[in-house]
Amino acid sequence: MKEHAHSPAQALFRRLFVINALVFAAGTLVLALSPATVSSPVLLAEIPVLAIGLALILAANALLVRASLAPLTALTSLMQRVDLLHNRDRLREDGNGDLASVVTTFNQMLDRLEEERASASAHALAAQEAERGRIARELHDEIGQSLTVALLGLKRTRDRAPAELTAELEHTQEAIRASLDEVRQVARRLRPGVLEDLGLHSALTALATDLSQTGSVHVTRSLASVPPLAADVELVLYRIAQESLTNVARHSGATTAALTLAVVEDGEVVLRVTDDGRGGVREHGAGIRGMHERALLIGARLGIHSPPGGGTRITLTVPGTAKEPTA
Ligand SMILES: Nc1ncnc2c1ncn2[C@@H]1O[C@H](COP(=O)(O)OP(=O)(O)OP(=O)(O)O)[C@@H](O)[C@H]1O
Ligand SMILES: [Mg+2]
Repeated sequence: MKEHAHSPAQALFRRLFVINALVFAAGTLVLALSPATVSSPVLLAEIPVLAIGLALILAANALLVRASLAPLTALTSLMQRVDLLHNRDRLREDGNGDLASVVTTFNQMLDRLEEERASASAHALAAQEAERGRIARELHDEIGQSLTVALLGLKRTRDRAPAELTAELEHTQEAIRASLDEVRQVARRLRPGVLEDLGLHSALTALATDLSQTGSVHVTRSLASVPPLAADVELVLYRIAQESLTNVARHSGATTAALTLAVVEDGEVVLRVTDDGRGGVREHGAGIRGMHERALLIGARLGIHSPPGGGTRITLTVPGTAKEPTA
C-alpha cells in the first residue's frame, strides 16, 4: 500500500493551492504577454476582454478543482448505497490522486464493518440456535414427559372405570395424545435433530412432507445427492428451506411449491424453493433478513425472484469451498 506522508486534508489543501496558483500564474502570464492593455480608469472597450479573461480563468479553475474532488462524489454515493448485508461494494483506489488515502481508509472501514457485522450475526444466530435447542429439549423432556405420565395414568383409570365413562376417557386420551404429537412436532421444528441423526436429505424431505400434510400447498421435491457438507452449511440450508416453505404457506396463496437441491458443474450446491403464488416479496421481514444473514455466514448467495403475480423463487447458492469443515 502507498504511504501518505501528509493527512488527506493537507494533501487536498496543497493540491487546491497548486491548482489555483497555476491558474493565476497562467492568467498573469497571458496578461503580460498579450497585446491587451488595461487603462485606468478602465475603458468601455476593455470590459468585454476583461470579462472573457476572468471567465476563462474561472472555468479553468472550476474544471481542475472539480476533477480533484471527483472521488469525493463517488465516495458520497458509495456511502449512500453501501449495504453490508448484500454486496461487497468498494471504491477503486487508483487514480484518485491525493484522495487515495481517504478512499483506502473508507474501504478499510467497510472491511472492518463487514467483518464485525458477520461475527455479530454469527453470534446472534448461534445464540438463537442454542436457545431453540434449549426450548426444544424442555418441551420434549418436561412437557412431553408430563403428558406421557398423564396419558399412562389415564389409561390405568380407563381400565378400571365403569363402562359409561370409557368413551369420555378415551376422548381425553386422544386429546392428550394429539397434544403430545404437537409438542414433539414443535420440538422437532425448533431443533432439527433429524438433521443430525438422518442428514440433510431426510430433514428436507420432512419439511416438504410436513407442509404438504398440514397446508393446502402441495410440495414436490427433487433432492439430488450432494457431497458431504459442513454441519453449519447444512443447518443454513435447512433453516433457509424451512423459512422459505413457511413463507409459502403463510403468504403466497400458492397451490404448489417445489423444493430442489442440486449440484451444478463447479461443485456449487443450489437450494431452490419455488411457488406459484402471488409473488411480490418485499425484502423487509425478519424472516428474509435472517435468510440473508445465514447465507452471508457461509459465504453463500441468496437470490429472491418474486415478480408480483408471478410466484416466488428463492435460490441459495453455496460455493463449492463450503465443503471444507469450518473451524
Ligand atoms: N412466498 C411468498 N409469496 C408471497 N409473498 C411472500 C412470500 N414470502 C414472503 N412474502 C412477503 O414478504 C414479507 C416478508 O417475509 P419475511 O419472511 O421476511 O417476514 P414474515 O414471514 O412476514 O415474518 P417472519 O418470517 O419474521 O415470521 C412477508 O410478510 C410477505 O408479505
Ligand atoms: Mg417469514
